[in-house]
Amino acid sequence: MQNYNEFLSEILIDSDSLQARIKELGAQISLDYPDGDLMLICILRGGVPFMVDLSRSITVPHMMDFMAVSSYGVGKRESTGSARVTLDLQTDIRSMNVLLVEDIVDSGHTISAVLQMLETRQPKSLKVCALLDKPERREAAVPIDYLGFSIPNKFVFGYGLDLDEYHRNLPFIGVVDLDKYKPAH
Ligand code: IMP
Ligand code: MG
Repeated sequence: MQNYNEFLSEILIDSDSLQARIKELGAQISLDYPDGDLMLICILRGGVPFMVDLSRSITVPHMMDFMAVSSYGVGKRESTGSARVTLDLQTDIRSMNVLLVEDIVDSGHTISAVLQMLETRQPKSLKVCALLDKPERREAAVPIDYLGFSIPNKFVFGYGLDLDEYHRNLPFIGVVDLDKYKPAH
């Protein structure tokens, strides 16, 4: 297994900048949902570190739930058309203020499919909070109500985002040098 230093080309967003922005997002969300009934839904697995830190910066009472989706017919680093739910919510979201928490919106297919699916369950409101956005890659239009950072079209890792499932634990967002990266499996 390579040490990430071997393929890290640059730190795009350092830990302090991530945490500062997440505190701002949490403060804004706390103002926007004064009446509660707020449910954060984390899309596994990339959204986990973001959701945990975001939740701790939200000062209004809220619940959390988790779901996992996988895209059909995918190359390992990109998604296509539709998504399949592989782990569904444990909670009924009818009449809840739902905030979907995602690590990154890339093509937009994942979020767009999840939004359509959740809409049928009749939440009171349904919004999206994404840590990162790669607007140049967008294929499906998705509303991002709360955004951490807009980033250039580079493959990134760390803070939830994986490289072949590794390195989600890193506290920063780094850019991969794909010429130097050797997948372990
Ligand atoms: P979308 O359906 O193309 O918007 O894909 C979103 C998903 O692709 C994210 O939840 C990530 O899991 C993955 N993804 C997109 N870009 C990157 C990246 O630069 N690094 C790691 N994962 C990424
Ligand atoms: Mg993901």
